[in-house]
Amino acid sequence: MKVSFRVNGKPASVDVAEDMPLLWILRDVLDLKGSKYGCGIGQCGACTVHVKGVATKSCQLPASKLAGADVTTIEGLSPDGSHALQKAWEEHDVPQCGYCQAGQIMAAAALLAKKPKPTDSDIDTAMNGNLCRCGTYLRIKAAIRSASGTTTTDAPSGGRSGQREEAHA
Ligand code: FES
Ligand code: FES
Repeated sequence: MKVSFRVNGKPASVDVAEDMPLLWILRDVLDLKGSKYGCGIGQCGACTVHVKGVATKSCQLPASKLAGADVTTIEGLSPDGSHALQKAWEEHDVPQCGYCQAGQIMAAAALLAKKPKPTDSDIDTAMNGNLCRCGTYLRIKAAIRSASGTTTTDAPSGGRSGQREEAHA
C-alpha cells in the first residue's frame, strides 16, 4: 500500500506492506536508523518516536494506520542536538552501551513537552515503558531533572528508581 505522512517536518511517501511497522519503515525504507529494534512487541521502548507529539512505540504502529501522521524521530528532535534533554544527557554522561537511549530521550521529550516541570511520579510513569539493560535509570532521571530545572523529591536512598535500577541491571 502507498501511505503518506510526515517525518521530522518533511513529507514522506512509501509503498510498503500494510502490516509493516513504522519502525521498519523508518529504518529500512527511510534510512533513519536512530530508532532501535529491541523486542518488536511493545515491551522495551527502544523504538520510541513521537506521533503527533505522543511517545509511541514505532514497532507497534503499522503502515495501515500511518496516513497523515506527524512523526518525529530522534533525528528530528532538534536540528543540531541542542534539545535541553540532549544537553542534559551529555552533562550527566547517561548512556552506557547507548542502545536504548534514543527511545529514552524521545519518551522524556514527550513528557517535558506536555509537562515541563514533572514530579517524580510523572517521570516514573512516563519512563516506565523504556527499559535499559545497562541500568542507567538513575542518570536518566537526573538528566530529566536537569533539563526541566527541577529537583527530586525521592528519598536519598531506596525509592522506585533505585528498585528499578536493581531490578533491570
Ligand atoms: S522494539 Fe518497540 S517496544 Fe521494543
Ligand atoms: S544504555 Fe545500554 S541498554 Fe540502555
